[in-house]
Amino acid sequence: MDPLQIRESKPTDAEAVLQVEREAFGRDDEASLVSALLSDPGARPYVSLLAIEAGQPVGHALFTNARLLGAQRPVHCSLLAPLAVSPNVQRRGIGSRLIAAGLGKLREFGVELVFVFGSSDYYRRAGFMPARGFGLQAPFPIPEAHADSWMALALDDRPLGSVTGTVRCAASLSHPEFWRE
Ligand SMILES: CC(C)(COP(=O)(O)OP(=O)(O)OC[C@H]1O[C@@H](n2cnc3c(N)ncnc32)[C@H](O)[C@@H]1OP(=O)(O)O)[C@@H](O)C(=O)NCCC(=O)NCCS
Repeated sequence: MDPLQIRESKPTDAEAVLQVEREAFGRDDEASLVSALLSDPGARPYVSLLAIEAGQPVGHALFTNARLLGAQRPVHCSLLAPLAVSPNVQRRGIGSRLIAAGLGKLREFGVELVFVFGSSDYYRRAGFMPARGFGLQAPFPIPEAHADSWMALALDDRPLGSVTGTVRCAASLSHPEFWRE
């Protein structure tokens, strides 16, 4: 059996999820953000995935609902934030597997566009591309130095750029401080 299990988190996993977030980021901010998002009606539907190894929580990925304002047609969107892997098991592919599993679920749910604000080198590996050149704007202005960190991925056969607009995310993520770096 694969020693790593990835499954949707349950309400009883709340403490495990927050533990992973705190370990990965070495602070409380992202754990607090996750708590807020999981009870934020505007974040639903969401996909919250927990990675478990040897009975221990080792990774978590949260994809929350987003909308595309000004789009030419209705588009189902989702935003990945945050992604966390415990320091002692990083660089073993757990983050990549959490992303792949999340994208698989979102595809099943009919999500067309997925966004992330993070390391372009890292997320490029999962298929994300800098979104700006495709007319897909972030919820807040992104500093020029981090412009490529605002990324998008198309889950269906319509390529990036087939629809344009500005992303509106859940209220818990709608604070300028989340969008600076
Ligand atoms: C970023 C993170 C989720 C990656 O998880 P992971 O399980 O270690 O990732 P994977 O094993 O799938 O991929 C590891 C590869 O990505 C690279 N990588 C990891 N973080 C990276 C980053 N921020 N920028 C660029 N590359 C990165 C590693 O160097 C490694 O490369 P290698 O395979 O050539 O050695 C994890 O390092 C983490 O939780 N970090 C702290 C929290 C964080 O920054 N989250 C991202 C918020 S957007």
